[in-house]
Amino acid sequence: MDKIILRGGSSLHGSIEISGAKNAALPCMAACLLTDETLILKNLPAVADIRTMEKVLGTLGTLVSHETSPSLLAISQSLTCNQPSEFKAPYELVKTMRASILVLGPLLTRFGKASVSLPGGCAIGARPIDLHLEVMSKMGASIDIHHGYVEATLPAGKRLKGIDHTFPYVSVGATENSLLAAALADGKTILRNAAQEPEVSDLAYLLVAMGIPIEGIGTSTLRIEGQIRAGGAHYTIIPDRIEVGTFICALAIAGGSLSLTGVIVEHVAALLMALERSGCKYQFDATKKILSLERSPSNRLQPIHISTAPYPDFPTDLQAQCMAVLTQAEGTSTIVENIFENRFQHVMELQRLGASIDIDGRTAHVHGPSRLSGTTVMASDLRASAGLVIAGLVAEGSTTIERIYHLDRGYAHLDHKLRSVGVDIKRIKT
Ligand code: UD1
Repeated sequence: MDKIILRGGSSLHGSIEISGAKNAALPCMAACLLTDETLILKNLPAVADIRTMEKVLGTLGTLVSHETSPSLLAISQSLTCNQPSEFKAPYELVKTMRASILVLGPLLTRFGKASVSLPGGCAIGARPIDLHLEVMSKMGASIDIHHGYVEATLPAGKRLKGIDHTFPYVSVGATENSLLAAALADGKTILRNAAQEPEVSDLAYLLVAMGIPIEGIGTSTLRIEGQIRAGGAHYTIIPDRIEVGTFICALAIAGGSLSLTGVIVEHVAALLMALERSGCKYQFDATKKILSLERSPSNRLQPIHISTAPYPDFPTDLQAQCMAVLTQAEGTSTIVENIFENRFQHVMELQRLGASIDIDGRTAHVHGPSRLSGTTVMASDLRASAGLVIAGLVAEGSTTIERIYHLDRGYAHLDHKLRSVGVDIKRIKT
């Protein structure tokens, strides 16, 4: 298992190119199951989860070919799914990546059957899929759970039917699976209290490009006109707002001046607003899509209050990184995690680096500034690992982060990118 060793104390200077959004790319890849025509996707990030989704789609009979860009950061893909030999997403793949559940909607709506392993819990919480299944069932599918698999079927010759559905609470994955299912359903589907995350909109725009009319993209009510067939498309994935946010946090803690290229600034508004309150400055060049950030060492960070919530509010996927930053604020900050019940696993590792943090239920009180000192820490999930890297940027001496396969699932060459802006960081291959 590879590990990362970094030495704290350098400020960041230079420019970083932002990769495509993993969480937009995965549902867009699943959309290839809706058509026998070819889907060409561009600007996918070169991360492990994309390769896992290629395997899932390959198992389902999809012809996948991909090309990596000369910078090694981006992937272009061609995906063609004629007739699957199997309709089953196996446990071995689903357990490593929960987003595999997104093949359920498109398989069911196009072929009338799907068998997908239940993903089980993960480090950040229980993460059930009841909201996904409720929609499929309301659209007319029979859903059975056998031997750890969701078996979804439609009577022979029948299509899923369009529905008017209100989600009891916001779920990104359930909204995406429902969009995919509604694409080939009989009639109109209305999804209310839908997730408004940019990744959901990216999938919706791809579906429109594939010939599925959708109204209300970017709002909490989506109206989908189901079609008999979908076509192929050429589509470019949006930049990764969580990667942007991770580098914003890196700059906020380490100081210096950093330009991030290929940014959609509205997607990181909640983080920028929070860090502005804490004392960080930024400028955005809308024509060039460059976000420029600056923080001098004399500019002390102020404590703030953060509460995670669905988009456009503060994303849970930036909570760990922001917590690392707030260990250096002058006073006590509070962070409330409202999305996942167990997403404070990075706290114990941050404490091992010297952070002073108390947990009270879903609230973390972060007392700063703490003098962090490097040691060996263990990554527990994708974003927690990024939080540990960020803390390591200011820890005295060297910090070793183990189990970085978590990091590789979602960040395209984070170590290279940080090294290019002056961080003393290396990956040890074992
Ligand atoms: C997606 C993102 C993940 C992000 C999360 C929240 C991908 C591949 N992953 O995950 O990075 O952290 O959104 O922004 O895009 N829930 C249920 N029943 C369900 C579905 C969800 O109870 O059927 C609960 C979850 O346990 C959680 C909340 O709803 O408490 C939100 O989860 P959801 O938005 O569905 O997250 P994911 O789509 O799994």
